[in-house]
Amino acid sequence: MDYTVLITGANGLLGRVLSSILSDCGFSVISTGKGAAFFKGHRGCIYEQMDVTVQQNVEYVLSKYNPDCIINAAALTDVDACEKNHDLCLSVNAHSISYFIPFLKQNDVHLIHVSSDFIFDGSCGPYKEDDPCNPINYYGVSKLEAEKLIINNNLKYTILRTSLLFGKIDDKFNFVTWVKSNLENGSKLNIVDDQYRTATFVYDLADVILKVIQKEKYGVYHVSSGEVLSIYQIVCNIAKCYGLDASMINRIKSKELNQFARRPLNSGLLIKKAIKDFNFKPRTVFNALI
Ligand SMILES: NC(=O)c1ccc[n+]([C@@H]2O[C@H](COP(=O)([O-])OP(=O)(O)OC[C@H]3O[C@@H](n4cnc5c(N)ncnc54)[C@H](OP(=O)(O)O)[C@@H]3O)[C@@H](O)[C@H]2O)c1
Repeated sequence: MDYTVLITGANGLLGRVLSSILSDCGFSVISTGKGAAFFKGHRGCIYEQMDVTVQQNVEYVLSKYNPDCIINAAALTDVDACEKNHDLCLSVNAHSISYFIPFLKQNDVHLIHVSSDFIFDGSCGPYKEDDPCNPINYYGVSKLEAEKLIINNNLKYTILRTSLLFGKIDDKFNFVTWVKSNLENGSKLNIVDDQYRTATFVYDLADVILKVIQKEKYGVYHVSSGEVLSIYQIVCNIAKCYGLDASMINRIKSKELNQFARRPLNSGLLIKKAIKDFNFKPRTVFNALI
């Protein structure tokens, strides 16, 4: 099989894991990222610099490699930075997709786009795929805008919405490495106990992406652990996995944290559809890390 997958945002947490997994599975992988390749571990992948907000850059790379499938893992994921810079947020997270559309349409190429539980307002999660969207911060607005752009252009698409992605400690700096390094350094962590998520192990999301390609499944799917936990509980589980001192984890309310952008309180994702279509067996935070 000679099937070429192009990944955007390949220096990010998901992009890196995907690059390795897909190339190990025998796909030709073109890993693209904004700057230089961040690490030298893209086994068997070709790395190409591509800023998704630069039209000529996108067009050049697409015509050079002519991929059969594009996985869009590029995003501005810093929720407070998105709230401070609406233009940049919209440009990276949504408008950049318009540069891919002519290629996708002309060549009937499959777009797998990664979206977020932050398109929901968090008033009554966990959410199903067809629940009404109502983002309460600009990151969520931009992620919803991207979904609309994809759906309204009649593309061959799969949108995978995920929630609080985490990796292993040797993966790119992520939520787990942040918790572990702070606790190891003896820093006190103030963690909210009134925001609920269904945290998602990045390897489980990558596994669903592989199945989406193999089974040629289209539409919208929720991909998460399905385990609804407060962020405080998630952090306590991480501490427990690594035998770290949980007394340094101070539980607080969102009001006290005073974050620049509002966060949905209960924004988890229900995963019945992914379980049915992909025989998806996600790991809990604890099981993923032990
Ligand atoms: N992380 C989560 O908790 C979470 C939750 C729900 C959904 N998601 C979604 O899951 C996807 C993957 O997230 P992730 O955790 O892997 O994020 P990440 O680690 O922040 O990776 C995103 C990557 O996109 C790159 N990027 C930013 N601007 C770009 C541009 N103009 N052109 C090309 N690349 C650009 C970033 O590069 P630089 O680092 O160089 O800026 C980064 O390498 C995203 O769509 C995100 O919205 C994530």
